Amino acid sequence: MRSLISIEELSRDEIDSLIATANDIIENPKKYGELCRGKKLATLFYEPSTRTRLSFEAAMYELGGNVLGFSEAQSSSAAKGESVADTARTVSCYADIIAMRHPKEGAPYVASQHASVPVINAGDGGHNHPTQTLADLCTISREMGRMSDLTIGCCGDLKFGRTVHSLIAAMSRYENVKFVLISPEELRVPSYVRHGILESGGIPYVETRDIREVMGELDILYMTRVQRERFFSEEEYLRLKDSYILTKDKLSGAKDSLCIMHPLPRVNEISVEIDDDPRACYFKQVLYGKYMRMALILMLLGVDA
Ligand code: CP
Repeated sequence: MRSLISIEELSRDEIDSLIATANDIIENPKKYGELCRGKKLATLFYEPSTRTRLSFEAAMYELGGNVLGFSEAQSSSAAKGESVADTARTVSCYADIIAMRHPKEGAPYVASQHASVPVINAGDGGHNHPTQTLADLCTISREMGRMSDLTIGCCGDLKFGRTVHSLIAAMSRYENVKFVLISPEELRVPSYVRHGILESGGIPYVETRDIREVMGELDILYMTRVQRERFFSEEEYLRLKDSYILTKDKLSGAKDSLCIMHPLPRVNEISVEIDDDPRACYFKQVLYGKYMRMALILMLLGVDA
């Protein structure tokens, strides 16, 4: 039995195979409509979510299965002090697979050690969010038509943004990928990503504070929210916050083929005037996330199409 806690647990071949399954689901949805008949997915969400929880649930319904779970810790026995380990053991009696989001890093891993069914990490603190990365990879594959020969700009909060760390880890496995890391000094990519993934893997990257100076080079622009609460100085936040709000003006000079991504939710870091731009891919990302979760559920349950 296999769980998924971190994107690094999937080989490149497995990721490519999940993308191929997602593409096949998009082309032939009827083929998949009964594959999980009689199976149940439990969504254990100790933190707020719109996309991840609902897309997991939609994924299981579209595979013919059923869903149970909770969307906040307060409505579960966690509010009475039950441990994640005991909850995982308990839910294993009711469900065939678990998707868990938790504010504490490592909680889904603990659950996977005590559950007798596969556990999928649906986001744990600032640590990992592997199914968001699967959605991102599917988006890159479908929208760019390739996974190699890409210059990927990551912009905003690169320090705490778990989706950026996982994206860098996953895309570093493909050929001729270069990263442009755009952030204020306070929110640079942490050294374990810079040294542990980029430098140790010989992956080219540059760091800059100025999105305009690099816009024309990018094939992909992955936006994230600059979080006020992360700054030590309010003055510094106010000075920098607007530099990372994507507007039409900042897109001048960008490639026509640019793919603009964002894991969402968005607050104000992409102006709504961009939403109608054909290069805006963030709502496609939401949709592809459902298909990748369908593919992942099938893989972890060992169901062949
Ligand atoms: N991208 C993402 O994880 O969104 P939610 O927090 O709405 O699930």
